Amino acid sequence: MGEPSVPLSKVFVEDHRELDDRLEAFRSTPAGAADLRAERFGSFASDLRRHIEVEEEELLPAFERESPSHRWLAERLRDDHRRILDVLDRTERQLRGSPSSTVELEAELVNVLWSHNSREEEAVYPWFDLHLTADLAVHAEAALRRPSSAVRD
Ligand SMILES: [Fe+2]
Ligand SMILES: [Fe+2]
Repeated sequence: MGEPSVPLSKVFVEDHRELDDRLEAFRSTPAGAADLRAERFGSFASDLRRHIEVEEEELLPAFERESPSHRWLAERLRDDHRRILDVLDRTERQLRGSPSSTVELEAELVNVLWSHNSREEEAVYPWFDLHLTADLAVHAEAALRRPSSAVRD
């Protein structure tokens, strides 16, 4: 399957930054532009769900096989993912319903995402560059870059 074009950590860190920028674009969209807000959040949420899905299905299984401490950390990351997915769902419901503010949900999301991403970038992603097989790295990068519409096929 070949070698990854860049280290996998770089691919996933860049995806974190891109998702951060898109969340900020949503947050700076005026409250009156309800359709645009819902569209921006929907596309951000769908790509963040894909990022999480690739981590859980392609990457964490290899990481947690390494040692009991990795298993503990992988469980911690999965807990974070569940919290993140829950806030995404609640925010989407709120955006679909009455045009009430999502400021509190946004703060909750930023909070959990920030600590989660730091944890991954410091303690997990560097391990991938050193230990993941080239096939798995190439596969994970391709899965992350797949267009959103293809994810649920
Ligand atoms: Fe994650
Ligand atoms: Fe991540």
